Amino acid sequence: MERKFCAIYFSGTGNTKFCVSRLVNLLDECAPIVAIEDDSVFSVAEGYKNIIFGYPVQFSNAPKMVRDFILEYKELWRGKSVLCVVTMGAFSGDGAGCAARLFKKCGAHVLGGLHLKMPDSVCDSKLLKKSEEENFRIIRRAEDKIERAVLQIKNGKFPRDGLSIFAHAAGLFGQRLWFYNKTKHYSQKLKIDRALCVGCGNCVRICPMKNLLLKDGVVSPLGKCTMCYRCISLCPKKAITLVGKRIVGQYRAEDYTDKL
Ligand SMILES: Cc1cc2nc3c(=O)[nH]c(=O)nc-3n(C[C@H](O)[C@H](O)[C@H](O)COP(=O)(O)O)c2cc1C
Ligand code: SF4
Ligand code: SF4
Repeated sequence: MERKFCAIYFSGTGNTKFCVSRLVNLLDECAPIVAIEDDSVFSVAEGYKNIIFGYPVQFSNAPKMVRDFILEYKELWRGKSVLCVVTMGAFSGDGAGCAARLFKKCGAHVLGGLHLKMPDSVCDSKLLKKSEEENFRIIRRAEDKIERAVLQIKNGKFPRDGLSIFAHAAGLFGQRLWFYNKTKHYSQKLKIDRALCVGCGNCVRICPMKNLLLKDGVVSPLGKCTMCYRCISLCPKKAITLVGKRIVGQYRAEDYTDKL
């Protein structure tokens, strides 16, 4: 009998949403796909034994918002089977393992892990910026990998990216420990250039953490930023930055995926 899946994801700039949707649609086009910030996420998750769970890698870890979500609702995962699907701009040793270990702690069975390289969403760093052609190539390669994974899954085998003990060691010693001190206070570092901001409120509406407050035409961060880059990539005035000082080229997955 074929497995029925539902898909739950977190996506700052659309890469993970695109990859998870593509994967799920190829497996079962009727499967529900919900974001972790959607009100319906719990009722959807409750109704399915098999879950595809997607998120982007941030500094070689699952985003804080994702880790908090899994642990806060730990009862929900008991007895579920989870495939962790992780998008990344470069490389991650154990991107899938980061959430897989939490799910296991909560009593879930981990079906597998899938790592997908996608364009980098950090759009205020010159170093990470790639050409449009290169971004299209990266997305096409991710699509190919998704199709191969779907064939594998339909034959009863799940990919195992990022789940081995070696992957864990690579993620921890090669990446996370190195990043840890450098990025500890990043969530406090969101900068809004008041000279550029026109007070449109777009960033306030789309922030999944409700981290932004618009008062008397001025936007202020409340210190809860999970660094998803959604507001940074969608501000019409390019007034918001985090890692860098200037927007190099805002990134939204749909600008590419709509043209595929
Ligand atoms: C704050 C931040 C940190 C990131 N850290 C990493 C990283 O450590 N390794 C990596 O390969 N990509 C990293 N990326 C890139 C994203 O994982 C990648 O672009 C992802 O596909 C974005 O997915 P989304 O569009 O669903 O948010 C980072 C992105 C952000 C915003
Ligand atoms: S989206 Fe940009 S311009 Fe609009 S309120 Fe936010 S920071 Fe200001
Ligand atoms: S403030 Fe911006 S970058 Fe931070 S969580 Fe909200 S939308 Fe994401």
